[in-house]
Amino acid sequence: MSDWDLLLTEARIATMRDSAPDYGVVEEPAAMAISDGHIAWIGKQSDLPKNRANDKRSMAGRWLTPALIDCHTHLVFGGDRAREFEQRLQGVSYEDIARSGGGILSTVQATREASADELFEAALPRVNALAGEGVATVEIKSGYGLDCETEIRILEVARRLGEATPVDVRTTLLAAHTVAPEYEGNADGYIDLICDELLPRVAEQGLADAVDAYCESIAFSGPQVARLFDKASRLGLPVKLHADQLSDCGGAELAANFKALSADHLEYTSAKGVRALSEAECVAVLLPGAFLTLGETQLPPVDELRTNGVPIAIATDCNPGTSPICSLRTAMMLACRLFRLTPEECLAGATRNAALALGLQDDRGTLEVGKRADIAVWDISHPRELAYWTGTPQLAEAITGGHITQP
Ligand code: NIG
Ligand code: FE
Repeated sequence: MSDWDLLLTEARIATMRDSAPDYGVVEEPAAMAISDGHIAWIGKQSDLPKNRANDKRSMAGRWLTPALIDCHTHLVFGGDRAREFEQRLQGVSYEDIARSGGGILSTVQATREASADELFEAALPRVNALAGEGVATVEIKSGYGLDCETEIRILEVARRLGEATPVDVRTTLLAAHTVAPEYEGNADGYIDLICDELLPRVAEQGLADAVDAYCESIAFSGPQVARLFDKASRLGLPVKLHADQLSDCGGAELAANFKALSADHLEYTSAKGVRALSEAECVAVLLPGAFLTLGETQLPPVDELRTNGVPIAIATDCNPGTSPICSLRTAMMLACRLFRLTPEECLAGATRNAALALGLQDDRGTLEVGKRADIAVWDISHPRELAYWTGTPQLAEAITGGHITQP
């Protein structure tokens, strides 16, 4: 009988296992054993085998859930867009600001001017804020460089953030965020640059875990995105898409055609788009922070996603333009309030389905034997509280890869 590294007893455990009812709760009091950074045993404490544990801790009735996963952020950037926020409050639209050279392009300018260290120092508190509310995995996109040098700098900073914090960072190349200023009026030329130069360099250096694009009238057309995704697929990189955020451009169908990990936003996705996502087993990532900040009124097709069995994930979309929100708990609450998701759907969306959206479902996202011991320990009386309170310090402890990393 092998020894365990850590045994947690007197716990309440929501495993969030797929298709398990009621948060996958284990009968109380529950226990969990950890070895080599992974879950070695989980169940009712009275069934605990007699293995020796090197360290044993009572959870004193606290709730354990899978650590949270933020599967869509743009948190490495220079400057901010508070001035545009004021303009939008006065009625100027996001598209108008973008067309007049503001929007993403103003962040691009500030990001190009920032050194790697400046970008790192600005992003670090954002990663720490997420970690402080139980997030152990964060996806970070590039997309505010739009030239080879700055896109690579952003991805390197993102990797560094993963090394400097207990958070596991997954990086995504989003060079196709909008047309680079040097290629104004020549989106195809810019896609060529990404396909021929940037993407091969990024793939060779192992800087990105996936490739994303923004399919929209103010960004790239379906055929342009398809060309990029073809190249990414040939280089062995999974894809995902900012789809149907401001209009129905067939983004969900496009993502499905390329067997994308996820299609994100989806406010304007049609019933046909939802069926395509379902057939392709593509995750729908909903981003209520952007919906709120843009004053959007078109709701994503939540009921259709449910009836078609499309897994729904929730993320912050943390970015300076459309979602200046650095709290996954807030995104969960907003998904309940704005999209009418249930608190249980939100927790699944920030754990199990977020792992699926990153292709990490075999490794994390639920509390099951063999998975990484990424665990959030909460001072709550029921997991439904996680989508109810925001800004409340309820995280008692975080265990990441089997190690206690918070407080
Ligand atoms: O996810 N939709 C495009 N990308 C971001 C917005 C980026 C920005 O405005 O800076 C989003 O909403
Ligand atoms: Fe985004």
